[in-house]
Amino acid sequence: MSKSMEQIVALCKRRGFIFQSSEIYGGIQGFWDYGPLGTELKRNVRDAWYHDMVTMHDDISVPPGAPRAFSMVGLETSVIMHPQVWKCSGHYDLFSDMMQSCRQCKKLFRADHVWDMLRETPWVASFGELFTGHGHGHETLFDTPLPFSADEAMQWAKNRRQGRRLAPGLALVRNPEGTMAGLTADLEATPETALSLPTLLMYMATEQKHETGLQMPCPHCGGDLTEPRQFNLMFETHTGALQTDENKAFLRPETAQGMFVNFKNVLDSSRVRFPFGIAQIGKSFRNEITPRNFTFRSREFEQMEMEFFCHPSESLDWYRYWRDRRFKWYTDLGIASDNLILRDHEAAELAHYSVGTADVEYAFPFMQPGEYGELEGIAHRGDFDLRSHAEGKLTKDAQGGLVIEQNEHGQPKYRGSGKDLTYFDDQTRERFMPHVIEPAAGADRATLAFICEAYNEDQQPDDKGEMQTRTFLKLHPKLAPVKAAVFPLVRKEGMPEKAAELYRELKAAGIAAFYDQQGAIGRRYRRQDEAGTPWCMTIDGETMADGTVTIRDRDSLAQDRIPFDEVVGELQKRLRG
Ligand code: GAP
Repeated sequence: MSKSMEQIVALCKRRGFIFQSSEIYGGIQGFWDYGPLGTELKRNVRDAWYHDMVTMHDDISVPPGAPRAFSMVGLETSVIMHPQVWKCSGHYDLFSDMMQSCRQCKKLFRADHVWDMLRETPWVASFGELFTGHGHGHETLFDTPLPFSADEAMQWAKNRRQGRRLAPGLALVRNPEGTMAGLTADLEATPETALSLPTLLMYMATEQKHETGLQMPCPHCGGDLTEPRQFNLMFETHTGALQTDENKAFLRPETAQGMFVNFKNVLDSSRVRFPFGIAQIGKSFRNEITPRNFTFRSREFEQMEMEFFCHPSESLDWYRYWRDRRFKWYTDLGIASDNLILRDHEAAELAHYSVGTADVEYAFPFMQPGEYGELEGIAHRGDFDLRSHAEGKLTKDAQGGLVIEQNEHGQPKYRGSGKDLTYFDDQTRERFMPHVIEPAAGADRATLAFICEAYNEDQQPDDKGEMQTRTFLKLHPKLAPVKAAVFPLVRKEGMPEKAAELYRELKAAGIAAFYDQQGAIGRRYRRQDEAGTPWCMTIDGETMADGTVTIRDRDSLAQDRIPFDEVVGELQKRLRG
């Protein structure tokens, strides 16, 4: 079944999952409100994550696939932190120049570096090769023959795309025939134009831009670059009464730093066994230049991040463990594995401190076929963060090693805390700086993915027997905002009282229940189908006669009768399973 974002956004609004923030004033871009059903759904997503990570974690057994037993604890840190945190983490510098960011690989580039970086890239070199090797009579291009047939160019572009080097936004990839045909025609018309590789790229980047949509591609992956602009991703604010530079503070752009700066506090206060993870769910803020695709890219969003501290020699094993385990979390909660990929970053894509990063990506309906949007990144961060917070902001030296970044006076550019953030293993008597594996997920993106995946339509007879399209959300019962709806068939003969009794029993057992006696029974079912309620219970004449209740299944529409007294136990069993 094909699903459109329009249908999904409309359902979210109609049923009270997600509203535009400040809608009555025309809305504000990049901010969203969760309605009554959305609030419950997102809470269930967060709970599923936190239960899996912390509450249900068994500190003394070795989970399947894990190198050994480990501890997990939770943390809740403040949104505004000491500004030095962001200087040492790298966020302060990274976002304070004229920048362009890539919509595909998310890398940021100084706008004045893009051109030079492009000329160095291997894919541009390949582009050059494409235009050299063969003879087609365009002797003037690179002072060598112009090579391409449209077929070759297309094949080249396709191969590149499969290798994910060229991202989908590039016109050459989107429409290779059209793009190459256009270029060929132009070059044939003006063969005297001596196009060198840079001028050809300039040509792509500027002259053709408005007609063809071509623009300077990302030097890293070939994706779409945003327009250059003064780019400070962090929202600024001030602490105290004075709006001075000294009082400047930032809303956190990630929750992760809260865990790094509290590493020692947790270690000293909670008797965690090494290795251990610190998990946190909380709001983060990024002044995204182009918030878009519903809640996918917002300016205020919620992250579910975990920093796992381990011995460097075991870090690759832990990285693989968390990568696989986090992928499974999504499939266990109902995302079809056909719609989900685990994509390992290529070496060139890795952040300078990272040994490995993999993204869990979902085929959102707003993506092109075959494309995926990031739900979560699992990164091997080495000891970059702890060392930066201990010693001062690190940077890469000429040999690729990490060294303290210096200012023009040869001093550390940003001083670290000076605290000892190493770990001492009293069994091996070894002191070392732990390495960190970070699974970083977005609660809003996960919620959106679960909604998109759950969205379904089928054809069912209505109350009058006419076939109608039924919309239903096939949410995993653990995530469903309402687990059970209770309906009296009619508002008489003691049925409302009996239904209210069942409703109260379910609530008392901690099962999110909903009572509805309004309207035709078919319409009540439809409303619950759209809300994603897995089970509806109807109190009817038979209930009053023999004490049984119907349970209707949202997906199969099967209706079973079970004794009134067994309903709570039956639902508890189904929810556990
Ligand atoms: N500490 C690492 C970190 O923050 P990230 O990939 O920038 O990594 C982690 O963010 C997750 O947070 C993403 O995979 C995504 O799910 C979510 N996220 C990031 N920016 C977002 C935005 N603007 N809107 C919604 N979710 C976002």
